[in-house]
Amino acid sequence: MQIYDALKADHKRIKQLLKKLDATTEKEAGARKKLLGELKGILVPHARAEEQALYEPLKKSDVKEADALAFEGYEEHAVVDHLMEQLESTAGNDKKWTAMMSVVKESLEHHIEEEEEDTFKKAKKSFDRSEAEEMAATFLKLKAEFLRQVRAGKTPPQPPSHELVR
Ligand SMILES: [Fe+2]
Ligand SMILES: [Fe+2]
Repeated sequence: MQIYDALKADHKRIKQLLKKLDATTEKEAGARKKLLGELKGILVPHARAEEQALYEPLKKSDVKEADALAFEGYEEHAVVDHLMEQLESTAGNDKKWTAMMSVVKESLEHHIEEEEEDTFKKAKKSFDRSEAEEMAATFLKLKAEFLRQVRAGKTPPQPPSHELVR
């Protein structure tokens, strides 16, 4: 398996959950909380592992604009991290929750599309098959570690190399 397959499988689950979340109303605060927790459990480990297993190698790629897409990805993750944090501290029966969720959904759908269309293309030019297979193994290992952290109630931050550009 190459890293793209592992990432795409998560993207599919993320998009399904976003649809479910977007279909909830202010009368379903309980369901919103439960689904938001589910989304966080997939999204946060995915993003943190993706940053290290894909974005970091892309930042070092010689392929034109590959690094720019990695930097853009980091910023899009940071925006969603911020909104997810806000959502967690907002009541599910608040109209603000509904509005923030629709921004999260739009941002993530755009982000996922750009990743699958543009970032994967640059990555496929940058890394050969065996490298992409190794990256898949790294991604899955990191994702499991970040999932442990999320389950322990922590929200792992972006790597320190990115603090300056946030
Ligand atoms: Fe992704
Ligand atoms: Fe991403």
